[in-house]
Amino acid sequence: MTSAQLADTANALVADGKGILAADESSPTIKKRFDSIQIESTEENRRDYRDMLFSTPDAGEFISGAILFDETIRQTAADGTTLVKKLESAGIIPGIKVDMGAKPLAGHPGETVTEGLDGLRARLEDYAKLGARFTKWRGVYSIGEAMPSAACITANAHALARYAALAQEAGLVPIVEPEVLMDGDHSIDDCEEVTEEVLRSVYNELAIQEVSLEGSLLKPNMVISGQDCPEQAGVAEVAERTVRCLKRTVPAAVPGVVFLSGGQNDELATEHLDAMNKLGDLPWKLSFSYGRALQAAPLKAWSGQAANLAAGQAAFLERAKANSAAATGTYA
Ligand code: 13P
Repeated sequence: MTSAQLADTANALVADGKGILAADESSPTIKKRFDSIQIESTEENRRDYRDMLFSTPDAGEFISGAILFDETIRQTAADGTTLVKKLESAGIIPGIKVDMGAKPLAGHPGETVTEGLDGLRARLEDYAKLGARFTKWRGVYSIGEAMPSAACITANAHALARYAALAQEAGLVPIVEPEVLMDGDHSIDDCEEVTEEVLRSVYNELAIQEVSLEGSLLKPNMVISGQDCPEQAGVAEVAERTVRCLKRTVPAAVPGVVFLSGGQNDELATEHLDAMNKLGDLPWKLSFSYGRALQAAPLKAWSGQAANLAAGQAAFLERAKANSAAATGTYA
């Protein structure tokens, strides 16, 4: 795999009006989602739910790629077709989450470092054979008293960069995901300051590990007010601050930035992305790699009932279409 091929895949993932479906919930996380619709998290239910999303007619017009969890990339749907094949025939590029989760950071209560570097080279080879063409690794940062610490920022940036280099070696595009959580009562100022520091450290480490920026994507949080902050910044302010923060830290060689939704409600996540693209004059594509903001509506519409398949798919397509418009600044 040449770096030009990696760049081709990265560019395809942020093709005009397209973004990514993050469907890589780990088993405990998908259980939480299923609990909300009173569905048992069995292997069969997880498979059928993801099959519903991946088989949505016309989804490939708006969705460029889907990030899978280890179980899903190995699963075969009830009709005998692998879920990877379903994505491929819809024109959706299969991707895979390769980190092993955020684990407590020694000596830093309340903070985490994401693990999964040991044995990663072999796992990446396996995933490439299973059809993955891109990957994701998420580092997590909380805002709070003396948080994030320098230890948390440097340890996660280092791991993200080592992961990205290994992914590229295996011919897989790395999506680098440093997520500053929206939990807490911090202000949007705090979020902007922390996000800027985090992104600067990530791009510093990517340079040290000689990661090809052209063959990578960034998946950051937006710069928003903490969930419990009494003052919530409006859409225009979120858009301006997020773009300012990215322009200060993300090299223009990166083909695209695909945001996580992070617990924002669906509609706001779409409006924020739309407002950013309306600002124009951006050196990279700005699109989405949403989990909850794409799935909350279809999950509820489906509710684990085969009879609701079409309703679930319609709800998914509606969110995909709205975010596709936002990715070109033509939503509102
Ligand atoms: P959310 O959009 O629900 O934050 O999920 C995106 C994701 O992949 C988190 O790692």
